[in-house]
Amino acid sequence: MTARAPIRLGLNVDHVATVRNARGGAHPDPVRAALLAAAAGVDGITAHLREDRRHIRDADIAGIKAQVALPLNFEMAATDEMVAIALATHPHACCLVPERREERTTEGGLDAAGQAADLMPKIKQLKAAGIKVSLFIAADPAQIAAAKALGADIVELHTGAWCEALAEGDKTGADGEFERLRLGARQAASLGLEVHAGHGLDFDTAAQIAHFPEIAELNIGHFMIGEAIFDGLDGVVLQMREAISRGQAMGERAA
Ligand code: PXP
Repeated sequence: MTARAPIRLGLNVDHVATVRNARGGAHPDPVRAALLAAAAGVDGITAHLREDRRHIRDADIAGIKAQVALPLNFEMAATDEMVAIALATHPHACCLVPERREERTTEGGLDAAGQAADLMPKIKQLKAAGIKVSLFIAADPAQIAAAKALGADIVELHTGAWCEALAEGDKTGADGEFERLRLGARQAASLGLEVHAGHGLDFDTAAQIAHFPEIAELNIGHFMIGEAIFDGLDGVVLQMREAISRGQAMGERAA
């Protein structure tokens, strides 16, 4: 059996901007964090330009794109404004996410099935410009089928419910969510979709999800930026890389 390519690690730098914006100045700079993470060995940078600009700002996206020699995964709501920014920025990929003003973070997956008519023309525009399209969805069979029907290249499976159940000590709930993710990854890959995962991951959960043979990329933000306070961003990148490789190797041995 040939060894799989290593799972790619994308760092989400939104919360560097959250800290910066708490004081309204220019420090800490998410572009500097992205450059440091690139030097430490991440494979991509993710940033979410929210409609309310609560963390990442337009200039951060432009700065990352101009200065960081890594693929930019531009997270965005499926709005005309964001599509126009994406077309002007030309990131490697756009990850379409649901966005509600009152939420603290992206709480649920995109309703790709229910919003197909609205999403289709936006996905077509992005793809026509040569930008890969990723849909951030729950590991739900109908949503995965809708992502395929919409022409998405990638699905990013929402790991938030699983991580939350684990954090709450709800073993039954966590096991159920993990099984949904496992089946979702399998379904998506069988449809020819590239499979990513993210939300709420830490060292342990990243290692566990890396067992799935279909996972090509993990996108992680809050935990890594928080942990960088204690270990430095480069140290955290190294530890996360090790956790993911360990998980991937265990998955391969079990297969
Ligand atoms: N992937 C997507 C699509 C997200 O919206 C987020 C959160 O912004 C992440 C990954 C990263 O989640 P976390 O910050 O919890 O690691």
